[in-house]
Amino acid sequence: MSKTIAILTGGGDAPGLNAVIRAAVKTATMHYGYSMLGIPDGYDGLVKQLEARPLDASSVAGLLYRGGTILGTSNRGDPFHYPVEEGGKIVKKDMSGPLLEQLHHLAVDALIVIGGDGSLTIARDLFKLGAPVVGVPKTIDNDISATDVTFGFDTAITTATEALDKLHTTAESHHRVMVMEVMGRDAGWIALECGLAGGADVILIPEIPFSYEAICERIESRNRAGRKFSIVVTAEGAFPANGSCVVLETAEQTGGLVRLGGIGYMVSLEISRRLKMETRVTVLGHIQRGGKPSTFDRLLATRLGVEAVHLIERGDLGKMVALRGQRIISVPLAEAVGRQKRVDPDGQMVKTAEAVGICMGR
Ligand code: F6P
Repeated sequence: MSKTIAILTGGGDAPGLNAVIRAAVKTATMHYGYSMLGIPDGYDGLVKQLEARPLDASSVAGLLYRGGTILGTSNRGDPFHYPVEEGGKIVKKDMSGPLLEQLHHLAVDALIVIGGDGSLTIARDLFKLGAPVVGVPKTIDNDISATDVTFGFDTAITTATEALDKLHTTAESHHRVMVMEVMGRDAGWIALECGLAGGADVILIPEIPFSYEAICERIESRNRAGRKFSIVVTAEGAFPANGSCVVLETAEQTGGLVRLGGIGYMVSLEISRRLKMETRVTVLGHIQRGGKPSTFDRLLATRLGVEAVHLIERGDLGKMVALRGQRIISVPLAEAVGRQKRVDPDGQMVKTAEAVGICMGR
């Protein structure tokens, strides 16, 4: 029986989104003979009833190695709390009704939502209202607990590790402390893994509130040993034991999630004040989200895209595809969302870092 599958990408982009779209479109159209529709700009495209575009094998040619998402995305505009103007003021309204109408209007048999925890939570709630949804997890932050890894993460840590390699040479030449701030929101995975792979001396993560004494002691012990430079990696969500994380914009200001950033500058100033050493800051920013997906991310994205369509063929809706060990499995969306995967402060990865002399800020 022929089906029409719509696909959208929600939340911040991540390398590998296009590879999922490509895999889903190829499987749906070539393997099963279904029709595919691309929804522009995430849930916005359904709420605002933007024109959906038919996708076939030729429209996804060349996408495997392309970063970003050809569909466009948005990390604002939760359809259940959608900002609309009323009487000159912005108010939040439940726009799930118009969204469901649009799915009906497009005669969609299933909707593939590729997103992080926020977009997948919306997918779960839409499924409860009867929408035929299947989820695909993505985020460079790697903080979705129902999957071992999310695509985008490997590319992001590869980019960050390469940046650390570059910072090392200039840090050594100038006898400086280089502080690099990376993304990750409330999870320290990017900082921890790029820091380990890139030979950082100090790694600060949100899961371990840090002490400046511990950081400075590590840098000073390197100085005493004749290593007159140091590399500090801080997650954007890291914060001192007696303080809080640095917020650039509140949730009210963004109309979505809190925007973090700036802890790198705070750490750098405090180190230079305490140790009288020259410090410099690099905020890696959206470079971590851009560019070609790594081999690992292309493979994972392709496997998830294919499996999402297999689920639809079996009528197994309301599920999220996930990597568990070596296999792609599926889990109910209801169980997959709302449980953030964070770094265990006493886990093996942190212990590994400490065993090789990295200061974890404690
Ligand atoms: O969730 C992915 C992420 O890149 C976070 O690591 C970061 O805090 C946030 O998105 C940045 O979002 P924006 O694109 O709105 O600046």
